[in-house]
Amino acid sequence: MTFDTRGHNGQMTHFDQHDSFWLFGYGSLIWKADFAYLESRPAWIVDWSRRFWQGSHDHRGTPQAPGRVVTLVAERGARCSGMAYRITPAVLAQLDLREKNGYLRELVPIHFVQQQTTLDRATPVPEQRVEGLIYLATPDNAAFLGEAPLNDMAEQIAHATGPSGSNSEYLLNLERALQELGVTDLHVSALAALVKQTA
Ligand code: SIN
Repeated sequence: MTFDTRGHNGQMTHFDQHDSFWLFGYGSLIWKADFAYLESRPAWIVDWSRRFWQGSHDHRGTPQAPGRVVTLVAERGARCSGMAYRITPAVLAQLDLREKNGYLRELVPIHFVQQQTTLDRATPVPEQRVEGLIYLATPDNAAFLGEAPLNDMAEQIAHATGPSGSNSEYLLNLERALQELGVTDLHVSALAALVKQTA
């Protein structure tokens, strides 16, 4: 089952006239930045939670045996941390192709993690926020799988594999990348622990 979002995303012209703008990655875009970017910064968005609820029929699974990859679900007050990249509009065609299995471009406020120098710990750092882009797979896309018991999701991830590699590699790379960012995501770590048990 596929739902190719390229046509739809191509009509989104919001950033076309910008020299550059920010893309927020919360899944494989954190650990597999295989596109050109001008700079990257740890960042977060609010009112969204990361969940392994999106089916992957093209990268980490097949149409017959889809894998599970992350999308975001709306949750008031929740905070999702990831990596933001400053990109040019020319990069969007490559990203649209990569994210074509159900993901739509969506505008969100992106908050940057502030780096404070050791010399200046007493001064509060002003919060920085920009309007940027995410790729979001909503429940109405054809590849959406939705919630399932954690054990069932882990079982599916442990066994699925597709043209981009195994589904467990996707999950464990994400777990590692979040650890490196100093981010705790209980959904990701619980699934990773279960998948490691089945390995
Ligand atoms: C993202 O990483 O921001 C989108 C989901 C994915 O490609 O894994």
